[in-house]
Amino acid sequence: MEVVILPDPAAVGAHAAALIAARAEATPGLVLGVATGSSPRETYRELASLREESPTRFDHVRCFALDEYVGLPPGHPASYAVVVAEEVTGPLGLDPDHVHTPDGDAAHILEAGPAYEQALAEAGGVDLQLLGIGSNGHIGFNEPTSSLASRTRIKALSERTRQDNARFFDDGVSVPTHCITQGLGTIMEAREIVLVAQGEAKAEAVAAAIEGPVASMCPASVLQFHQRVTVVLDEAAASRLS
Ligand code: F6R
Repeated sequence: MEVVILPDPAAVGAHAAALIAARAEATPGLVLGVATGSSPRETYRELASLREESPTRFDHVRCFALDEYVGLPPGHPASYAVVVAEEVTGPLGLDPDHVHTPDGDAAHILEAGPAYEQALAEAGGVDLQLLGIGSNGHIGFNEPTSSLASRTRIKALSERTRQDNARFFDDGVSVPTHCITQGLGTIMEAREIVLVAQGEAKAEAVAAAIEGPVASMCPASVLQFHQRVTVVLDEAAASRLS
């Protein structure tokens, strides 16, 4: 695991974006796994500005989201299908046919996880997975106690995550209780992983993930077993590392 500590969130975004752009350049048809939420926004903004120099540079990239809420009305602004389109794939000019999110609105919801695993397998797996980390150590929506070998499935959201994410729901729709998320075993199959974290609120989870024991109570700690992980932190997020 390589840990890169930079002065501020803008530098974190620039570093992660440069890494993603380099992999996109080197790998035609790159399969990019994307996280949503606040953490990767600087990275996506930086990628979009890199595209200004060369508008077609990401045209070939294929994209898989990590997770989705269950039961939101289609097109809800907090749904990850909408967020990914607005913050990532639209600004990067990706073909919508090459953009996938788990189907949180599936009629047979228990089949949506295996269907997403199949789509990932058909695409040849994820080349590069971008991750954020929850304040409780989750990655994707694999909350503490998630099996380290888990696959894409329905999960209950913890109360802490629902509170953390309430800021994205200001229209009277309450934060869903469930989500569909790639499992930890699924995420670990990505050939390369970049995790970005900024701010003091993430410092404890970051320290547990990098320096704590590998344990399901801190799901991100499973990344210690991955062979190719870069963790990009600002100084505040790194402040509890020893
Ligand atoms: C979202 C996701 C989550 C977030 C995490 C941090 O797709 O996978 O694991 O990365 O909840 O969220 P922010 O960045 O909003 O603090």
